[in-house]
Amino acid sequence: MTSWLKKSSAKGKKIGFVPTMGALHAGHMSLIKTSKAEAGLTVCSIFVNPTQFNDPQDFQRYPVTVEKDIELLEAGGTDVLFLPPAAELYPRGTGGLEHYDLGSLETLLEGKYRPGHFQGVCQVMFRLLNLVRPDELFMGRKDYQQCMVIRRLLEIMRLPARLHPCPIVREPDGLAMSSRNLRLSAGQRSNATAIYRALLELKEKWAVRGNAAIQSAEAILKGADFRIDYISVADKDTLEPLAPGAARPAVALVAAFQGEVRLIDNMLL
Ligand code: PAJ
Repeated sequence: MTSWLKKSSAKGKKIGFVPTMGALHAGHMSLIKTSKAEAGLTVCSIFVNPTQFNDPQDFQRYPVTVEKDIELLEAGGTDVLFLPPAAELYPRGTGGLEHYDLGSLETLLEGKYRPGHFQGVCQVMFRLLNLVRPDELFMGRKDYQQCMVIRRLLEIMRLPARLHPCPIVREPDGLAMSSRNLRLSAGQRSNATAIYRALLELKEKWAVRGNAAIQSAEAILKGADFRIDYISVADKDTLEPLAPGAARPAVALVAAFQGEVRLIDNMLL
């Protein structure tokens, strides 16, 4: 990666970067498309990062579809695929790695339910950003809190990349695209649309009905066999829970299990 960047083909061009864990879908490809429109060269990385999985089973079962990913990236006109082996990013293994001060991002929502997850995300992103040295960084709002964590990482590590949070791409029935959707059975897949319906319920009713809207969104999820980690209406800039009627811009966020598969989604209200 480093020597490629020194080659003349890369010199003087603005580098756009789309980090992923593979099993690519239209959500990832929308980031590639945006990068191609805004940067001179687009680099995509695929690396299933062990340090961000708080559940070892989730890591083992994470889908790997590299051949298909390469076809998609080629068809999408990606300039470079960076596909490092683990030893390339973690030459001394994954024990005793550095710690980042993420403030309340680490204790709220995903931070609370996936201890250590955002440390792992920062550990791998710091390494990737150092190798790729992008000018523009494209990430999905699907992982709303992750975008906030990366904004903070860029700030505290004084990294020059500019973060572009990009819109959530959904299936026609509203389910947010996710690599983990591949692990849903047919029945679970049809239940999974309840997340989108629950978010729409909050968007329509939270301002007027407050906690009653949260309860009905919960009922929608439970009616579709979801086990809920959290369902929260929060300040869109701090993620602190909002009281009903608060006049601040809000985002609704959900994390819930369909069987073994944990799904997350969110919607600005
Ligand atoms: P991964 O889940 O593969 O996602 C890679 C990027 O694609 C992230 O920025 C994510 O927000 C975005 N993305 C996923 N689904 C999307 C959708 N439906 N619409 C729009 N964007 C979507 O997020 C990670 O990998 C990892 O944590 C990573 C940042 C690569 C660090 O390991």
